[in-house]
This record gives sequence, structure tokens and C-alpha cells, in this order.
Amino acid sequence: MRYDYQDKTVIVTGGAKGIGKEVVKGIVDGGGRVALLDIDDVNAQATAQEFPGKVTAYHVDQANREEVNKTFATIIHDYQRVDGLINVAGIISARPFDQLSPEEWDRTIQINLTGPYNTVHAIWDHFKTNGGGRIVNVSSVAGKIGGGLLGTVAYASSKAGLNGFTKAIAKEGGKYGIYANAVAPSFTHTSMTTSLSEDPVKNQKVIGIIPLGRPAEAVEIAQMILFFGSDAASFITGEIGDADGGVVMDG
Ligand SMILES: NC(=O)c1ccc[n+]([C@@H]2O[C@H](COP(=O)([O-])OP(=O)(O)OC[C@H]3O[C@@H](n4cnc5c(N)ncnc54)[C@H](O)[C@@H]3O)[C@@H](O)[C@H]2O)c1
Repeated sequence: MRYDYQDKTVIVTGGAKGIGKEVVKGIVDGGGRVALLDIDDVNAQATAQEFPGKVTAYHVDQANREEVNKTFATIIHDYQRVDGLINVAGIISARPFDQLSPEEWDRTIQINLTGPYNTVHAIWDHFKTNGGGRIVNVSSVAGKIGGGLLGTVAYASSKAGLNGFTKAIAKEGGKYGIYANAVAPSFTHTSMTTSLSEDPVKNQKVIGIIPLGRPAEAVEIAQMILFFGSDAASFITGEIGDADGGVVMDG
């Protein structure tokens, strides 16, 4: 399915590979341009080269506030108008609590939660001035059920925090035309889950929790992200959408 991104400019973090790369493809397919932010320069450049003139790659560690601020200022200057921000970048943390070091806790929160804070902080005034903008954060089923598929305590906490952050900025942003939603995937085939895919016992255990009985392909998660990032979601904000094969059925 294709969503309309005609003449829109969207910043996508973590667009070098996996779910983020499918988001980049979808925006270009919909007629938009992408500023792709990632720390994986090789894959980021390769993705940009697949879409000449439509995708520009920038080296940014989203945990580094100074780097984020500098690059966002450059992007806003170069493109003049940014319509959306899609925070896909994240890292996994899979250690049980009694083996989790304070350093791993800090790093996971810094990248998965403070990272999206940094990027939203860097674009907020621009969106306010422009009469609005669309923010989509990529969370995880772990943020709703306390981990358990692959990510554990630090990962689940970072994603639960991201859900709260998304709802809070949706409440404050509404009056400025700023939308904020999140997408919470379960097990998806990407480099993040290679260890899970390659371990037949763990793989079967996780699949057993998913009513649809299989992992997702990255493009299936991208579909919900692209919907939330587009004008098709014109009356939806503060939503944490489950793209998880039926793991979470709340409401
Ligand atoms: N794959 C899954 O099963 C799954 C499930 C639930 C949620 N998620 C979430 O989906 C998002 C995308 O994950 P994926 O599976 O595509 O993983 P991936 O590892 O394939 O891609 C993640 C991308 O983020 C980039 N990145 C990591 N740290 C960064 C940083 N500090 N600054 C900028 N870029 C950084 C990586 O270089 C990579 O390109 C993540 O937020 C992840 O937590 C994934």
C-alpha cells in the first residue's frame, strides 16, 4: 500500500537498514524526500544512493544532543520546510536484570528514549512555526508487556518511556497541529533479531506467543509507520499502535 508523501520532507532516524530503510522507501514511493540520519555510514550511503536526489544521508548519533541540534539546523536550512520526523533508530538490550550493568542501562535509555527526545526537541519550534508536523516514534511490544520476546528490562523501560513521551507530546502538540504517534512491533526480521532468528528453540518460543504464528517482515511494520506519518491519519494522535501479529490486544 502506498501513502501520499508528495512534496513532503521527512527526517528518518535509523533509516540505513531494517524497518527504517522500508520507511525511507515508502516515503520516496509516496513522492517525498528523506533526510536519513544514522550512525551506520556504509548502509546509510548505500540507501541514499538507491534514491538519488530523494534521500540524503547524515551521520548522526541520536544520543548526542549537540550532533542532533547541528544536523537539524542544517537540514531545516537546506530544505526550508520539514513536514515529519520518524524516529526509528534504536538498540536492543537483552540481558536479565541481574546481569545488566549500569552502563548498559544508561546507554539503552540514552539511545532509545533520550534520542527521540533530542530529535523532537530539535524540530519542535520549526513545527510550531510551520503550523504543525507529524512525529512517529518506533516503540516495541516490550514497552507494553515488560519485555520478554527479546528485549529485557532496560529495553522495555526505554520503550515504555517512549510511549509516555509520545502521548505527552501529542497532548501538548495538538494545539500547534503537531501529531505524535508510536508504532509497537513484535518480532520482526532485521539485523536486530538475527540471534533470535538463528536460535531454533528461542525462535519457536517467541513465535508461540504471536497469534499470527510468524515474525513480521520490516515492510509490514513500515506500513503502519507510514500511515501514522501521513495525512491519512488526520484524526489520530497519542496512539501507540500495535503492529505485532496479535501479541497485545488491549482496549
Ligand atoms: N526487529 C524487531 O523485532 C523489533 C521489534 C520491536 C521494536 N523494534 C524497534 O524498531 C526499530 C528499528 O529496529 P530494526 O529492527 O530495524 O533494527 P536494525 O538494527 O536493523 O536498525 C536500527 C538502525 O538504527 C541505527 N542506530 C542505532 N543506534 C543509533 C544511534 N545512536 N543514532 C542513530 N542511529 C542509530 C542503526 O545503525 C540501524 O541502522 C528500533 O527502535 C527497535 O527497537 C524492532
